[in-house]
Amino acid sequence: MGMGGQSYFKVLIVCFVALIASTNAQLQLGFYAESCPKAEKIIADFVHEHIHNAPSLAAALIRMHFHDCFVRGCDASVLLNSTTNQAEKDAPPNLTVRGFDFIDRIKSLVEAECPGVVSCADIIALAARDSIVHTGGPYWKVPTGRRDGVISNKTEATNNIPAPFSNFTTLQTLFANQGLDLKDLVVLSGAHTIGISLCTSFSNRLYNFTGKGDQDPSLDSEYATNLKTFKCKNINDNTTIVEMDPGSRKTFDLGYYRQVVKRRGLFESDAALLTNSVTRSLVNQFLQGSLDTFYAEFAKSIEKMSQIKVKTGTQGEIRKHCAFIRYSNFNHVSLLLFDHGDNFEKSWWWWRAICGLGSLHDVSDDWFQSSIAQIVGNDGDIDFRNETWIGEDSFNTLFPRLYYCVVNLDKLKVVELYDGVSNVWNLQWRRPLLSTSNMQADQGECWSRVHNGYNNGGVSGGGDGRSSNGGDDR
Ligand code: HEM
Repeated sequence: MGMGGQSYFKVLIVCFVALIASTNAQLQLGFYAESCPKAEKIIADFVHEHIHNAPSLAAALIRMHFHDCFVRGCDASVLLNSTTNQAEKDAPPNLTVRGFDFIDRIKSLVEAECPGVVSCADIIALAARDSIVHTGGPYWKVPTGRRDGVISNKTEATNNIPAPFSNFTTLQTLFANQGLDLKDLVVLSGAHTIGISLCTSFSNRLYNFTGKGDQDPSLDSEYATNLKTFKCKNINDNTTIVEMDPGSRKTFDLGYYRQVVKRRGLFESDAALLTNSVTRSLVNQFLQGSLDTFYAEFAKSIEKMSQIKVKTGTQGEIRKHCAFIRYSNFNHVSLLLFDHGDNFEKSWWWWRAICGLGSLHDVSDDWFQSSIAQIVGNDGDIDFRNETWIGEDSFNTLFPRLYYCVVNLDKLKVVELYDGVSNVWNLQWRRPLLSTSNMQADQGECWSRVHNGYNNGGVSGGGDGRSSNGGDDR
């Protein structure tokens, strides 16, 4: 490939770039006032425009916000996709979370206005607040400046998000883990005044509470009969939905507490609020108080919740697509495009450089840094093989052997290749390291550095653990 008379050889490489920085920056109201002045309005307008058609989304979004904040803080980790179904999204409590598309649509509008500026975490927080306000519920302040996380783990979601069968002690512990107290527990549970549940979330209380075909005695028996007759007709019903606050599921009122004291809360976790004297008396206080008092308390508690372990400053990243990590400017793995000038031989030396094994021959020590031509990042749209990265030819044409090495040719979108959850490259190589060259002597150390990957300054590549020379293109 010729460019301006000069010959260029490009090699696609996988490189670890470490740049860790953290700050103690705080969230602030109007964080985007200068960097993206229209951001908050774009979000509010979109919510305003669409929530009429789907008012139930308000419930979905506030629940998404809660589930996001309880796992690794409010960092949009709940939105990440995993190629191996190991993300928070794949955990049982999140299988019934809705509204992902809605957030994606907002994100694309905001990206069109100011690319790479507004985090998905802030979008969830703002969209949740705006949708509740648009459906007549409480208003609360949403200071912004959250950044997006890069890790999403199914087990963490399962362990940190309360389950409908949680008892009082579990609820207290899980809330305390997030810096939330019993008042926050009672106030925030009040969100169950809107929205719906699938029968499966509570049908054990109706049909098989202790494994003996019995009913939960803490559930009002008349109500249970009613549910069995008209709603959840058998224990396996996984399609019927039930309003959590029947008759006013769209209204953010005190209805939930009314249900709870009548022993008609759908979940054991709702009933659990009556099993402790502090929470029981809070439920009663809210019931006797005004809606304004509840709204004011709700605002206080959710403002607290929406600041749980937020990432700010240079922590995390600003994603481009909310479902995918981006990898730029932080402790990350990037794809780099190398410019090797005329020296064809150098095309495979990147592997030594990457592994910190030093350079060979006449190559200067800064060869690695100085040869970086372009950082590609983990962009969801990049096609490893067919993209025209430079000049007129795709990498597939320029470096057929690079691709010949890889088994999973059909999955060569960068984003599909990188599993952001366990930080492993999903490339599967056809053959081990080449035996030619003195790289062979180093491959043990090199590979283990590479395989130990992320935290130690390398990159993992290939699920079968065999050695590999990665993107050698000779
Ligand atoms: C205290 C522990 C909590 C437990 C155990 C719990 C559990 C659940 C369960 C099992 C569902 C029904 C899921 C389904 O079957 O579709 C649900 C729905 C919901 N939860 Fe919670 N939740 C808790 C706290 C919260 C909090 C703190 C909020 C918000 C601040 C919240 C907001 C909602 C909303 C709005 C819905 C309805 C969602 C929809 O309509 O799609 N929950 N919750």
